[in-house]
This record gives sequence, structure tokens and C-alpha cells, in this order.
Amino acid sequence: MKNLLALNWKMNKTPSEAQAWAEELQSKLALSESKLGDAELAIMAPAIDLQALSWFLKDSGVAIGGQDVSAHESGAYTGEISAAMLKDVGAKYAVVGHSERREYHNEDDAGVAAKAAQAQAGGLVPIVCVGEGLDVRERGEQVPYTLAQLRGSLAGVGADVVIAYEPVWAIGTGKTATAEDAEELAAAIRAELRTLYGESADSIQILYGGSVKPDNIASICAKPNVNGALVGGASLKVADVVGMNDALK
Ligand code: PGA
Repeated sequence: MKNLLALNWKMNKTPSEAQAWAEELQSKLALSESKLGDAELAIMAPAIDLQALSWFLKDSGVAIGGQDVSAHESGAYTGEISAAMLKDVGAKYAVVGHSERREYHNEDDAGVAAKAAQAQAGGLVPIVCVGEGLDVRERGEQVPYTLAQLRGSLAGVGADVVIAYEPVWAIGTGKTATAEDAEELAAAIRAELRTLYGESADSIQILYGGSVKPDNIASICAKPNVNGALVGGASLKVADVVGMNDALK
């Protein structure tokens, strides 16, 4: 299965900075050794940057997506962004249930599932994030915890989905899970997806996220059930992105 290299800019880069970044990426990818690799490259940008990215990455083969999406189709929801709006600007993906949204915006599994279903209804592929905190990991309960979160976050959601396993203790901390830790959870997630979706589970991409960088991405993505990465910190500099793209060749 093709790897997905999904970049999560979080709340970084103005539209002008996004434009400059996209132009730099285009010129680096034009160099022969840095062409888009076997992985699909997708940028999860602040919603206000998507128009600029859509324009400046036109025909580049690089996909774009939102970092969140409303659970509602349209209407009186001040401040929210709908799936139709993301789709209209050229987005393919929407991240839902990132641990920072779960923690700082009190999002629960049912709300995440509603957002994922709404993303699908609007023609987007949701990237559904799950993963345990340090306390759960220290108790050795990461598998049942993450699978319960997965089931709750996929209630009523179809199989056209990407899953990101992101252990919260590894996000932005420099502490990467080992490739074996990532595979343990990815394999458990794959088995759970089979019970939910049958054979379609075998074509669902499962990403690992948490302090992924150019020098650790290849070993993590070489694991049989890991099909790419969701990258925060190392997504901001074009040189790191080109390094990760090259590492996945
Ligand atoms: P990180 O973030 O790569 O900076 O650890 C990953 C994420 O939050 O998606």
C-alpha cells in the first residue's frame, strides 16, 4: 500500500508564509533527486492557508487538507469550517480528533465520529487520530485504550478513512515510539478495522505520528502495518519534508 506523508502544520504559517513554503517546495521537488517519492504528500494547513496552497501547488501532485472540520453540514455555527468549504478549496483530507483538539477543546469520541462522518458526506477523507497518554502507557494499557477510542471515533463512519496512531507522550516531545511500539498498535488497529469493515480494512492506511523526522521515518514506515506518518514539528521546514519524502523512496 502507498505510504501517506501527512504534514500537520498546526497553528503555524500565515497565508504569505504558506505561499513562500509552497514555492520553495515546488523548486526543491523539481530537482531530480527530490521528486515526489512513492509516498503521497499531503499538507494539513490552517484553513486560511488552503486557498494559497491550492493555487501554488496546483498540478504538483501534493494534496491539501484541513486540521479539523465541523460536525454540521452548514448553518449557524459561528467560527466553524464545513466539509463543503474545504472541498471547494481543493482539500482531499480533514484531520479529526487530534489529541490537541481532544485536550484543549474537549472533543470526545462521539463528536470526533460525527466530524469524520460529515467529512465523508462532504467528499473528504477523514484522518482520524487516536492514541494513549503517558499514564495509560505506563500502566501497559495502550492497546485496549486506543482500540476503545478507535471504535468510538469510527461509530457511523465508512471505510474510506485514514487512521493516525499518535501516542500523546510522543507528540512534540522528541520521544518517538520505537518502530516496534508503532507496529504493535498499528497491527492491533488493523485487526480492529477488520472486525469493523471486513476486507476493506486491508486497504486503510494507518499512519504513525509523534516526533517523526527525516532520520526515523524510514524504519517506522517499513513496519508491515504502518503506511505513513503524520508529522508536526518536522513539517515546517521544506528541507525536512524533502528529507522525509526522499527517505520513503
Ligand atoms: P510532532 O507532532 O511531529 O511535532 O510530534 C505530530 C502531530 O501532532 O501530529
